[in-house]
Amino acid sequence: MADTRAQWGSRIGFILAAAGSAVGLGNMWKFPYITGENGGGAFVLVYLASILLVGLPIMIGEILLGRTSQRSTVGAFRKLAPGTAWAGVGWLGVAAGIVILSYYSVVAGWAMHYVYLSLTGSIAGQSADTLNQTFGGLVTDSSLNLMWHTAFMAITIAIVIGGVQKGVERAARLLMPLLLLMMGAMLIYASTLDGFGKALDFVFGFHTEALTGAGVLEAVGHSFFTLSVGMGAMLTYGSYLKRDDDLVGSAIYISVLDTLVALMACLVLFPITFTQGMEPAAGPGLVFKNMPIAFASLLGGGLWSVVFFSLLTFAALTSSISLLEVAASYFIDERGWSRKRAVLTIAGVIFALGIPSALSNSTEIFGSDFAALTAPAFEVVGVEAGKNWFDTFDYLASNWMLPLGGLGIAAFAAWRVGGEARQQSFAAGSSLGKVKAFYLAWLTLLRYVVPIAIILVMLHALGALG
Ligand code: PHE
Repeated sequence: MADTRAQWGSRIGFILAAAGSAVGLGNMWKFPYITGENGGGAFVLVYLASILLVGLPIMIGEILLGRTSQRSTVGAFRKLAPGTAWAGVGWLGVAAGIVILSYYSVVAGWAMHYVYLSLTGSIAGQSADTLNQTFGGLVTDSSLNLMWHTAFMAITIAIVIGGVQKGVERAARLLMPLLLLMMGAMLIYASTLDGFGKALDFVFGFHTEALTGAGVLEAVGHSFFTLSVGMGAMLTYGSYLKRDDDLVGSAIYISVLDTLVALMACLVLFPITFTQGMEPAAGPGLVFKNMPIAFASLLGGGLWSVVFFSLLTFAALTSSISLLEVAASYFIDERGWSRKRAVLTIAGVIFALGIPSALSNSTEIFGSDFAALTAPAFEVVGVEAGKNWFDTFDYLASNWMLPLGGLGIAAFAAWRVGGEARQQSFAAGSSLGKVKAFYLAWLTLLRYVVPIAIILVMLHALGALG
């Protein structure tokens, strides 16, 4: 089977495709708004620490498992530990991919709608009030949400059916540099605004008073979400690597790129937010309300807006492809389904599951009533009353499913895989990987720091630590 599997065309192709998976709505939509809600500073610090100490070690372990087994997520565990319950870690990943993509597609649909609005001249020259109302009008409009959710899923399906390797690799090579360029240009613009100093202090100042236990859980959870680790996306992409491709170096590039884009997004959004006298804790609407407000008054703002929201859509697309690929590749690898059948079946399930998220801001059944209905069941994992379907899925996936999956992946890579094979695999094709101290540091993080951190954070979130 290994012989017939698709492989990346080049090392840079893999790095860009994996970075394409990592860089997405998580960086440009979610990170700024949860940073805003958690008061900035200390939250950002916890996030950076967990990228370095938890996320990156897991990413290396995850790619290693994929590259070693040359299988996607469930298959990798079956091959490396036949007949054991470890395959359950793979299953959790498949489930997480399905849950995440179902609401991810709805938010990506908002980005597409803003491309449309920019093209039709509904952004440039508008007042801040009007643009605020535009977003409010969008999220409460069921048919619009459904239409864009459908459109985004259709594009994702088309690419994944066509075979990810060539499509994704080629798209990522083109789009990732463009994205960085655009963010760089926006950053220069943002640095000229009055609110830039305040934004710098908000993001990098050490405001411990605003950080709560729930905030720590969210920061750790988000480090999984943003790096695409804990559910087998990196494992699956790693399975398309040759066994002697550099692993450690690639993982570092991917993580650095991902972190840079997230920080840049904050340093673009918050100067605009403060200059306009708006609230940083604006929730999921932050990027959709505040960027257009900046574009509206910029020379050529309509064009900027088209480019920005197109890139946001493409960033989402290179991530959604990886989400769908995880679930689809299970049926292709393990069940022998054709790619087309696997993709269409799974995408159909995801599409259906996304419908309540698309409608949850506009209807009672999927909105606040949902929270009331499910409160007893969800209370145990800390889903707050008042969260709708969309919030609940996001919360469960990023704060619980990904960290749990990450725990399983870390335990498997650090304890179960044979020591010699692990070290050889770590070193293969990488000069950094051959440094013994570096290997030992990684192993120590994966064996002790990662599990302890994840378990402590979860216990705390469950209220077990008082
Ligand atoms: N990393 C993506 C983002 O930041 C989301 C994602 C999570 C993609 C898990 C794949 C797997 O938007």
